[in-house]
Amino acid sequence: MQRQLLTAVSLASLMAIAAATGSSPERRENTGTHDSSTHAAATAALTGNLPDTSCHPRESVFDHPADSVAFVLSANYPTALPTPAPGDRPWMQFDPTSSVNWHSYLYAVLKYVYEGNVTNGFDVQKNMIRQWYHAPWMHLKLSSSDKARKDGYGGREWLHGLTQEREAPIKDLYDASNKRDSTKNWAVGFYNEAGGFAIRNAWEKICDGSLADTVRFPVGTVAFKLLFTSAHDSDVPYLKASPVWLASITRNDVSQRTPLRLIQIDIMVRDTRADQGTGWVFGSFLMDGRRGIAPELREMASGADTGWFCVYPIGIAWGNDPARAAKGMEANAEQFIDPDVQKSFRGTMGWHGRLNGPVDNPNASCIGCHSQAQRPLNDAIPIPSPSKKFDRKNIDDLQSFFTQNLKPGQALTPGWIGLDYSLQLQSGIASYWNARRIVLSAHALRTRITHADSLRLRQSFDPVTP
Ligand code: HEC
Repeated sequence: MQRQLLTAVSLASLMAIAAATGSSPERRENTGTHDSSTHAAATAALTGNLPDTSCHPRESVFDHPADSVAFVLSANYPTALPTPAPGDRPWMQFDPTSSVNWHSYLYAVLKYVYEGNVTNGFDVQKNMIRQWYHAPWMHLKLSSSDKARKDGYGGREWLHGLTQEREAPIKDLYDASNKRDSTKNWAVGFYNEAGGFAIRNAWEKICDGSLADTVRFPVGTVAFKLLFTSAHDSDVPYLKASPVWLASITRNDVSQRTPLRLIQIDIMVRDTRADQGTGWVFGSFLMDGRRGIAPELREMASGADTGWFCVYPIGIAWGNDPARAAKGMEANAEQFIDPDVQKSFRGTMGWHGRLNGPVDNPNASCIGCHSQAQRPLNDAIPIPSPSKKFDRKNIDDLQSFFTQNLKPGQALTPGWIGLDYSLQLQSGIASYWNARRIVLSAHALRTRITHADSLRLRQSFDPVTP
């Protein structure tokens, strides 16, 4: 029951999409041996399960050790908006826009995020204190481009549900003189109950094709993301004592485990005190084992997991600082940065001083990227990836991202549907529509998908059938 997809996709709506993307049922029938079963499985899956990961190893298929605990999507989203009890939002005691209180605000959110999660390895279904949810349809990363399709289907790895982030050079993480080495970075995100409620509402409409209005997350929504890196403390000293997760990030050998270290924790909170900016508070923490356990977290820290408590706020931001978007100006009005923490990694922030973390593209910023959470009304238009805009070659055009503060749910592109700063929602929707396009297009099945890929796609749509 737990992972039943929210709504059924009717055959009629699948046919309508097939017609819109130019493939007809007749063409579909003429396409070789395995694609008709792929199509049937995919259609069933679009109406049935929410898969966990891009490949879901079972002993019979991938021969993984029996003691492995595979990632399971937390998708039992609430059907009603939970009413907060007194004390349920401990960050409300602190004003996030106050130069004196912003650290306390971020630590209050972090404690809320940690409670019941650190002790359970962020296996959020085991949390007895409060519910947390994953965003759906990140199990597959289906790009609309042929090249990316050839590169494979990406998506969540199967041990922790991590998805691949930007590959960051060591010079971004720490050492400007190290121009040679690069690191792989993987992350997993979570939403609290209020966020889970909005995810359910949005996906019900996405599945039946009726999402025509902006998505709005309720006040009190908290999202967080744990970022892990392949870097080691010999190259990046602040990773000393960092918690290690063994992850399956080698696509062609899912039995391999790679140690990844916690490097950054990002949070987003829908908070009315941020309404003069974006309506959201963005904050980021840096892992820094050299400084030991943060005094604010000392009471919580215990036993073997102490690395989780050696994290320090990099900064907080609630707006794009549009008044300071002109060339030569640095952001300073709608954010606070801790200069000491900033110095302890690469020493710079994002675009013109805007809040950013070590793993993030230095030409971007939290809010600059997240402002692009939107989708077109017409599902045939591919959803662009937010990170591509921040290429060096576009650097002079970036200003336009920072000249306004979008209100919650407002789309950056006029006429598009705003997704209220949620890039996991955007990324899931992009993959979902690309998958539908692929499975419904006979041409794509015949020419672009190899047998192995089609099998993998089928498994990911329908993880219970080997
Ligand atoms: C280069 C673009 C980029 C930058 C910069 C960026 N993010 Fe994100 N962020 C993403 C994308 C894409 C996702 C969704 C995919 C994922 O989770 O990896 C995401 C997901 C998240 C999530 C999970 C909630 C959600 O669905 O949006 C949080 C929380 C988050 N980011 C916070 C931050 C914070 C805080 C910063 C700045 C310190 C930041 N991000 C900087 C692109 C970016």
